Amino acid sequence: MHKAIQWMAIACMSAPLFVVAQSSNVTLPQDKGPSSINVSSYPPEQQKAYKVFVDKCAKCHTIARPINTSMSKPEWERYVKRMMHKPNSGISDKQAKDIFEFLAYDQQVRKDKNPSAFYKSLSDAEIEKLKAQQH
Ligand code: HEC
Repeated sequence: MHKAIQWMAIACMSAPLFVVAQSSNVTLPQDKGPSSINVSSYPPEQQKAYKVFVDKCAKCHTIARPINTSMSKPEWERYVKRMMHKPNSGISDKQAKDIFEFLAYDQQVRKDKNPSAFYKSLSDAEIEKLKAQQH
């Protein structure tokens, strides 16, 4: 096959995949919760990291989603890495680290004290089920 044709074939086949992987096409219960955190009492470095978090984690879904989801520290670490590795996430290693530190701190001072006000993260299977119901 000609190089150019080969390239076009690859580009055409991967384009839809790329679009699907881009954004979340499902509404989760936590998307409907508050969409900001009052960080005025947080340490200055966490206030700075909050801005990175709001900037980077609202690209594909509402910022309310992570704001209203409760996870353990290791789960947040895994999750931020997973989101960082999504195609076109635009999140660098340093930004991911700052965001993770922020989420771990916020989990401890805000969410762990009031667990019933937040949503537990859903499994992939639960998310797939919601997608099927909404489409
Ligand atoms: C490239 C797009 C993209 C970016 C950027 C992104 N997310 Fe997501 N996020 C998704 C998709 C898609 C889902 C739905 C589940 C899935 O398919 O992975 C999701 C789901 C979630 C969930 C719900 C998890 C659950 O199981 O209930 C949380 C929490 C979350 N994201 C947090 C974040 C955080 C924190 C960031 C910033 C570090 C972030 N997301 C950035 C695409 C993205």
